[in-house]
Amino acid sequence: MNTNPFWKFSTAGNIYFGRGSLSKLAEEIQGRKLERVIVITDAIVSKLDLVQQSISEMRSHGIEVAVFDGGEAEPSIDVAERATQRALETGAQGVIGIGGGSNMDVAKVVAILLKHGGGPADYFGFNRVPGTIAPLIAIPTTSGTGSEVSHSAVLTDTAAQIKVSTLSPHLRPSIAIVDSRLTDSCPARVTAHSGIDALVHAIEALTNKAFQTLSTDGPRAYEGAYPFTELLACEAIRQIGENLERAVHTPGDTKARDSMAYAAMLAGMAFSNSGVGLVHAIEYPIGAITHCSHGEGNGLLLPYVMEFNKPNCEVALAKIGSLLTGKQEGSCTADDAVDYVRRLQAKIGIRARLSELGLTAEHIPVVASKAVQIERLMAITARRPTESDLVALITKAM
Ligand SMILES: NC(=O)c1ccc[n+]([C@@H]2O[C@H](COP(=O)([O-])OP(=O)(O)OC[C@H]3O[C@@H](n4cnc5c(N)ncnc54)[C@H](O)[C@@H]3O)[C@@H](O)[C@H]2O)c1
Ligand SMILES: [Zn+2]
Repeated sequence: MNTNPFWKFSTAGNIYFGRGSLSKLAEEIQGRKLERVIVITDAIVSKLDLVQQSISEMRSHGIEVAVFDGGEAEPSIDVAERATQRALETGAQGVIGIGGGSNMDVAKVVAILLKHGGGPADYFGFNRVPGTIAPLIAIPTTSGTGSEVSHSAVLTDTAAQIKVSTLSPHLRPSIAIVDSRLTDSCPARVTAHSGIDALVHAIEALTNKAFQTLSTDGPRAYEGAYPFTELLACEAIRQIGENLERAVHTPGDTKARDSMAYAAMLAGMAFSNSGVGLVHAIEYPIGAITHCSHGEGNGLLLPYVMEFNKPNCEVALAKIGSLLTGKQEGSCTADDAVDYVRRLQAKIGIRARLSELGLTAEHIPVVASKAVQIERLMAITARRPTESDLVALITKAM
């Protein structure tokens, strides 16, 4: 096996961050000479005052703006097809995804199909997008997925009961606008679920196998852990420890909202280079079977996977314990980190058992078999499980 002596880092082309940055949208579109754009959003987000204002502002600059507001949480392949149909009908030259990860991911798929044709499934997997996509602007309204900076788009294949990812360097948005005013209206449940997803992203990026130990044979979606993403992930974990509970329980705490938007973006930069791992591999089939939110499925599984991974990343987990609790480095153990996550789950209303999501005993072997086949994650996760390890882990989480 050939192993890698170096790493690569990529993110969105340009990033605006901070309250008020949404005001740059019209100017950016004009600067790119786009006359017709489509906004991909959903029925809830499209009604937010800031979103309405932003659409009016683009129109007042002479930009033709079509709106597809048929997005849904954990979007199906059908939704992406409908959005693309609308984009084609309107002759859109650029795509703006406004919403949580769900809408931003549909926008990514639309931007692929506008440029390269075909259907969503033609591009599933890694590196199947043949070249640059239509100009894409991603504007998150949740603090969680990091899709605004990532190279992936996740859809639900309802027939095959699995989440399917399209991963390509071309999927990084040309522009990310992270204006945390847009997250102020998130209900506690959305704040909690998306916020714990960001924590999972940072923890998986940090605990995945080191880049030097991975094979360079053939292209791969992720680099493995390396020092620069460690920096990003650690800061994300620290800020999530300080702010997630506050953002959930004190929705008007704009400083907590700002910190969560920042942490989610940093975690997105970390995981979209270093990878997510076993939590995500198990959540993909569970999400498709139970229709739980991605964030809750991940948040539920996190402590079980941390325990499973412990033999291979005890030092990193102990560091995570210190970052989350704000205690001095060296004073926490890996078990403290797991305990912290369990307490956090309870405090922010993440359920602790897969049976509560509707998973039943007959689903366990199906989930284990689907998860173990996601090779891009199995190759880099801290501790590679066998299928029977997964059956045991999932059974423990029931
Ligand atoms: N592409 C990536 O890199 C990536 C990474 C992680 C997860 N994902 C995907 O992202 C999706 C989950 O995204 P999410 O957690 O951001 O949630 P979401 O986009 O599914 O949104 C959840 C709900 O919150 C509502 N909502 C969003 N913003 C709101 C606001 N400001 N005010 C009020 N309501 C609001 C939405 O209308 C929706 O009903 C999943 O499909 C998951 O697989 C993608
Ligand atoms: Zn995730």
